[in-house]
Amino acid sequence: MIRTSRGSAPRITVLASGRGSNLAALLDAQRAGRLGGTVAAVVSNRPGIAALDIAARHGAATTVVDHTTFEARHAFDAALADAIDASEPDLVVLAGFMRVLGPAIVARYEGRMLNIHPSLLPSYPGLHTHRRALTDGVRIHGCTVHFVTAALDHGPIIAQGAVPVRDGDDEDSLAARVLEVEHRLLPAAVRAFCEGRLVIAGHRVRVKGEIVPDATLEVPSPGA
Ligand code: GRF
Repeated sequence: MIRTSRGSAPRITVLASGRGSNLAALLDAQRAGRLGGTVAAVVSNRPGIAALDIAARHGAATTVVDHTTFEARHAFDAALADAIDASEPDLVVLAGFMRVLGPAIVARYEGRMLNIHPSLLPSYPGLHTHRRALTDGVRIHGCTVHFVTAALDHGPIIAQGAVPVRDGDDEDSLAARVLEVEHRLLPAAVRAFCEGRLVIAGHRVRVKGEIVPDATLEVPSPGA
């Protein structure tokens, strides 16, 4: 378990921008005693999103820092950092947070900010990952949980889950298959962090024990 200044379960602040299904997966894991920490707050850059309702239903504090009200990126980042700091997190999780963060805020939470990305990094950083994977004809696709660094989607990798790309897939079917794995991988990676089982060594992460007990690599079966 990571040592918290309060001697209580690690506090987690989740940043989200939309639907919030990964946030819901974290809260489900928390309820089941499988998260290793408590989602204390949710911060969004957009008002009125589903993730805020999910947070409120679970009793997590919510804050909106609306990026459209800031002229400069650094001003938005500073307000976002204030909102995050106010929630006193031990860990910050980007779960579908769709703003690129500048170097100052990334440095502030270095080693305690995770992101879930819907591709097998370093392939397909950035947007439209499923569309690009289909266009390229890859047979294996997936998702990655990594520490956040100043290089977008290139921080040290904690865990990855892979799925097959099937012949009949379109963007939606592939996204749904990947999302199912995201919902298992992210809570498990957060738990490993909260239990103090992740050690960053250069660009690699050493993991003590397993991240996900069942295999997340689903190899396409012959003829599938
Ligand atoms: C997920 O696919 C996540 O990997 C990506 O954005 C999507 C967010 O989905 N960064 P949700 O808001 O968690 O449902």
